[in-house]
Amino acid sequence: MGNKKDDLKSAGNTVLRLIPKSMEYLEKTDEERIDYIKRERFIVYPGAQKVLNKLEELLIEPKKSRMPCLLIVGDSNNGKTSVVKKFLKMHMPTDGIETDAVPVIIVQAPPRPDVSMFYDSILDEILIPFKKSDSLSRKDAEITYYFSKLGTKILIVDEIHNILSGSVAKQKEFMNGLKNLNNKLLMPIVLVGIKEALNATNTDFQISSRFKPMYLKRWNFNKEYLTLLKSIEKILPLKKESNIAENDKLAENILDMSEGLLGEIIEIISLSAIYAIKSRKEKITLDEVKSTGYIQPSLRRSIDDLEAV
Ligand SMILES: Nc1ncnc2c1ncn2[C@@H]1O[C@H](COP(=O)(O)OP(=O)(O)OP(=O)(O)O)[C@@H](O)[C@H]1O
Ligand SMILES: [Mg+2]
Repeated sequence: MGNKKDDLKSAGNTVLRLIPKSMEYLEKTDEERIDYIKRERFIVYPGAQKVLNKLEELLIEPKKSRMPCLLIVGDSNNGKTSVVKKFLKMHMPTDGIETDAVPVIIVQAPPRPDVSMFYDSILDEILIPFKKSDSLSRKDAEITYYFSKLGTKILIVDEIHNILSGSVAKQKEFMNGLKNLNNKLLMPIVLVGIKEALNATNTDFQISSRFKPMYLKRWNFNKEYLTLLKSIEKILPLKKESNIAENDKLAENILDMSEGLLGEIIEIISLSAIYAIKSRKEKITLDEVKSTGYIQPSLRRSIDDLEAV
């Protein structure tokens, strides 16, 4: 009788400890569960939510002569691209690019500060045929025309630090090009890049004052981090509870190994979960974390620290 009660209690806990989709996966094969763990997904955390809120604000900003812009900065592998992609997904056209409004456009900055190449990637993104040799003013006119036709309201430029590969004069020229596009399209421009990207916007006060930075910081051991761990664990279709967030030593180890980078935290926990499935332990402990063969980012740079195959 007592046992039955305990069974019911733990069954109840199981329902609460995983999201419904992951609950379904508990019944699937190991391979299917592993595949599911490897899938890309978006976990909302306070920093990402703040950026998403800011982007929503910019999206409904009424057109005026000085449209506000934004610079999203953070270390590499810390969730910048994921958050703007999530925003894009939230505003994806439902009816195909030609017939429906395309409010959000994301392009990658060119590999060097070259406005013409930058225009090429915008035209590529909106599937407009053009010749690379077309004049800048022609490409510019095409972009203005099609952005208006597509109802584009915000332009996001990822990897903006790419432009640091050119001379300071070229960087300045590129940033001025962005400023002009911002003035002409009367549309917020959002730049995304690593911290060094600040050097690009700092080329000129007019530009740095226009691109207000939002910083996706590395993770520290605090309540936000523990909440993140809980959110991640809720996704993992493991048959037993790991309670990572309640195990300080385990949580600290994961954070230390990850060097505070979101992509690494997720990678370590995913690899550990996969190991837990393969080893039939079905929960993550320090053993699983240490057994994954994961190498932390700063050690990857040194060949001496790599394990031979
Ligand atoms: N909100 C999130 N939810 C789940 N996974 C995430 C989230 N944000 C980032 N990730 C994971 O972290 C990895 C790195 O994230 P992302 O590519 O967004 O980093 P980044 O800051 O753009 O890096 P880089 O500067 O190198 O381009 C992604 O592959 C993704 O798996
Ligand atoms: Mg990125």
